[in-house]
Amino acid sequence: MVQLDPHKLPVHLAVIMDGNGRWAQQRMLKRIVGHQRGAETVKMVVEQSSLLGIKYLTLFAFSSENWSRPMLEVRALMTLLKKYIRQETARMMRKNIRYNVIGNRSDLPPDVNETLDEAIRKTAGNDGMVLTLALSYGGRQELCRAAVRMAEDAASGTLSIGAITPELFGSYLDTGGLPDPDFLIRTSGEMRISNFLLWQLAYTELYFTETNWPDFTINELHKALVDFQSRQRRFGKTSDQILQRGDLSND
Ligand code: IPE
Ligand code: IPE
Ligand code: MG
Repeated sequence: MVQLDPHKLPVHLAVIMDGNGRWAQQRMLKRIVGHQRGAETVKMVVEQSSLLGIKYLTLFAFSSENWSRPMLEVRALMTLLKKYIRQETARMMRKNIRYNVIGNRSDLPPDVNETLDEAIRKTAGNDGMVLTLALSYGGRQELCRAAVRMAEDAASGTLSIGAITPELFGSYLDTGGLPDPDFLIRTSGEMRISNFLLWQLAYTELYFTETNWPDFTINELHKALVDFQSRQRRFGKTSDQILQRGDLSND
């Protein structure tokens, strides 16, 4: 196992879980079998992240654009999601994990929403890791929803236009209250963001691996985190400023 510094972990880890379909198709299996195997990887990543002490884990589970997949695949994914949440809630309680959901929940089937509400309610008092599921989520759609709500508040007089700053804008997003991700992992070799957390990823460190999501292992997760620990996050400053802990910030 690769060496990991427990003091330099991302506070917020985000993951684009990709490659379930290809994993299955390469094995002459139905795509849904890939999603089922992918759910096992989700369990591992949730468990490991919580054990490592990561505070926020956000998983891209179903995008706004995924509604255009064949109806049978969409239905199977919704059924799998419901089953996963139901089965895992007891474990979330034992591990002190709190569920959170981002995305356009009004597009999700009522039974899925009920299952989510129950899981959110049951785990609401847990103060360990926050597990955010991005469901029917698209970054552009989220930005538009935030803009609409800001316009409504401006029209009703509860928001003054001069008060709009990046911080305030961020508080109107579905992720309001969550810190921005420090690290993003995408599996399956695709090097794109696919409409995930467009605003929030502004300064996130990105990591891409060829491995398909069902094959992503504990060792690979650790390898990715070790890679994160080797990065220098400069946020626009110079390398010297970072090394001297900002001593030159007035130069
Ligand atoms: C990710 O795997 C899961 C979802 C998007 C729901 P994919 O289903 O996108 O797998 P590929 O990309 O087709 O292999
Ligand atoms: C992104 O994966 C969405 C999720 C992982 C849920 P996709 O497989 O849908 O992304 P594209 O369409 O290939 O970019
Ligand atoms: Mg995909």
